[in-house]
Amino acid sequence: MRPRTVAAGLLAVAVATLVGVVASLPGGLGIATVLGVASLAGLLLAALVLIVRTEPVEAPAQLSSPERNPIAELRVARAMGVGVGFVLDDGSLSNPSPTLTAMAGPWNGPLDWWLAVLAQVRMPTPRDCAVCGEEERVGLLRLDMDTPRGVRRVYQLNLHGHAHEFNDLDGSLLLVRDMTVTSVSEENLRRLNEEMTVARDQALAASRAKSSFLANMSHELRTPLNAVIGYSEMMLEEIDDGAFDPGAARQDLHRVRSSGMHLLDLISDVLDLSKVEAGKLELKPEAFEVSELAREAMAIAKPMARANRNVVRLECAGDVGSMVADPIRVRQVLFNLLSNACKFTENGRVGLDVRRVMQGTEEWIAFEVSDTGIGMTETQQRRLYEPFYQADTSSTRVHGGSGLGLAISLLLIQEMGGRIALRSTIDEGSTFTIHLPAAPRRATSPLSA
Ligand SMILES: Nc1ncnc2c1ncn2[C@@H]1O[C@H](COP(=O)(O)OP(=O)(O)OP(=O)(O)O)[C@@H](O)[C@H]1O
Ligand SMILES: [Mg+2]
Repeated sequence: MRPRTVAAGLLAVAVATLVGVVASLPGGLGIATVLGVASLAGLLLAALVLIVRTEPVEAPAQLSSPERNPIAELRVARAMGVGVGFVLDDGSLSNPSPTLTAMAGPWNGPLDWWLAVLAQVRMPTPRDCAVCGEEERVGLLRLDMDTPRGVRRVYQLNLHGHAHEFNDLDGSLLLVRDMTVTSVSEENLRRLNEEMTVARDQALAASRAKSSFLANMSHELRTPLNAVIGYSEMMLEEIDDGAFDPGAARQDLHRVRSSGMHLLDLISDVLDLSKVEAGKLELKPEAFEVSELAREAMAIAKPMARANRNVVRLECAGDVGSMVADPIRVRQVLFNLLSNACKFTENGRVGLDVRRVMQGTEEWIAFEVSDTGIGMTETQQRRLYEPFYQADTSSTRVHGGSGLGLAISLLLIQEMGGRIALRSTIDEGSTFTIHLPAAPRRATSPLSA
């Protein structure tokens, strides 16, 4: 019995006796009565001292600490679907639990499964156990493997070192969790996230491109339109003031006309660009002599070459022959390249070389447009095919144009199944080479295979 209970008992006895004695008093106090009352008072005092002096009550001892209850832990592991085993010093697996055995089912049991595991991962380097000083293994491993039937499984292997609480069992405790469902859904989520990030970036880039396209367009359209409006207003004022001078008006009309032509070029370029981008451009392939088309393109570019005092040269290989493609589009691309070469070269040379080349079993026509002009830096070359990109952005730009020629050319070349390449050195010149298929590729029919 604990001290606090003893003291409470004594106190109860003392109170009861005192009540009895006082109740039996006849009227006066006898010697015996006085002695009885005194002894009872002593008893009462002793009980009170005992109550006050007793130690605080201890909390009840725990039923068992986790270290003392390994079997309960094993049951929890089983309930949570965690496989348990032991990795011995020689690396072999012992005492696989029923859950681990079930997990290893597709491998014909835990031993084959363990061999497959060892073939894929390196066990953590052993370290000294703090309890017994022998070597133990501790570490966390992730395993992504296929069952013998090729089904993907992901495991988490948790090596806990020696489990001395299991007393008679050797080796490091191994806990195995099948993470396949979790990892696959995590991977799916991550991929989805990445795809959404890419889609968002693309949407943002498209929206930025659209905004800058509109800003560029409104600038490009406004400049020639202002010229048209400005010169016509000037002429109207001159007529109204009676100061009309046909000579001056002729010059102004020339300016109005060239601004109008520039607007037309710009609008047809933009329409071309959006047509190709929207996949609405219809190519009209036909057979034509390549050298003839090259001569035509050169003839259109000649006045521009002359304006910059350039010498032009056209060379077509004897075997260049004919090709099947849309001649209008091929001429348009060649003209864009030749006009650039003439525009960015002064007192230099502009050349067009055409030849037929075989690549494997395919025949190609190679057009090479070269100049000895201003050339381009690597950075400029990287942005060349962006719509509205112009290397010279200074306000004193002398070359004109709107930066759409190469963007359209690239799209047209790709549409025709070809490719374009550039070699350029600043202050030395540039060479653009286009390869176009000599004939559109035919879709292979199952019969011809
Ligand atoms: N042969 C070249 N030599 C030097 N720079 C060139 C050459 N070709 C193109 N470039 C550079 O690339 C830019 C883009 O060329 P692109 O043909 O697309 O536009 P543009 O000639 O300026 O205008 P547009 O062709 O619409 O009239 C040019 O402004 C120029 O800076
Ligand atoms: Mg151009």
